[in-house]
Amino acid sequence: MILITGAGGQIGQVLTKALQKRYGASQVLPTDIRAGSYDNSLFEILDVTDSARLLELIERYKVTEIYHLAAVLSARGESHPIPTWDINMGGLLNVLEAARTTSVEKVFFPSSIAVYGEEVPLEFTPQFGALIPSTVYGISKVAGESWCHYYSLKYDVDVRSLRFPGIIGYESLPGGGTTDYAVEIYHAAVKGEVFRCYISEDEKMPMIYMKDAIRAVIELMEAQAEHIKVRTSYNLGAMSFSPKEITRAIQAVLPDFKVRYEPDFRDKIAKSWPDQLDDQRAREDWGWRPEYDLQSMTEDMILHLGKGV
Ligand code: SER
Repeated sequence: MILITGAGGQIGQVLTKALQKRYGASQVLPTDIRAGSYDNSLFEILDVTDSARLLELIERYKVTEIYHLAAVLSARGESHPIPTWDINMGGLLNVLEAARTTSVEKVFFPSSIAVYGEEVPLEFTPQFGALIPSTVYGISKVAGESWCHYYSLKYDVDVRSLRFPGIIGYESLPGGGTTDYAVEIYHAAVKGEVFRCYISEDEKMPMIYMKDAIRAVIELMEAQAEHIKVRTSYNLGAMSFSPKEITRAIQAVLPDFKVRYEPDFRDKIAKSWPDQLDDQRAREDWGWRPEYDLQSMTEDMILHLGKGV
């Protein structure tokens, strides 16, 4: 049985469906702190900081894998630094401890471009650069990666992780992140609204289409253990663009679309993050290849959002 934490979140909603399709709905247990719509599906409420509840679910459902997605993201985390640390770190440690002591054999932990900041090149950020983050979320991901590495080294826990760029998809909305604009912009464009962009027009960030991101998770988790040589977290690359560039890509399909720039505190976070990641190790170790670029993603997003699906 696969247990997913944060199943109601941006990645969780889509990953839950993908795993249900791949392994069967009876083999996937979505959990979240809030109830949601999980048609024809198992579901349990879980606050990831409650280790007793996590252990109870693992025992009751005979869980063998955990995809631990629950976390507070970069922008929201800045208004609540200590609770963000408690949730992000407490949740991960509960999951890792469960993997050490129960039937759980494998763990997925999403890390982020937010681990990077000062003292590292931001143009083609290397896999093993300095990790000096500018947000509490980033600090929790740096520490989280180190805990994953430690549990792998010391207790032989099979924990695997990806440093995700901003993720863009039509099935779900992000909440509280810095890269959220790149999803919101498509919704505004399809509704014919002027988009108020909180990132400055030339600020590039690394991004990935949801379909590629989900495939990356599944390929990483299904790879032979001996191919997973990075036990902190793999840089994952796909595309890189600025608000100006995504606007142009949208205008190629919807020529009347307009953006107004109103940068806020999130622009400063974006400026501390890489423009693009060097993901050579993911490519070499387990064969990572992205399929979508800005243009093909834009066409697919507009097609699906335009149809209301
Ligand atoms: N998408 C996340 C954020 O913006 C980064 O991992 O917080």
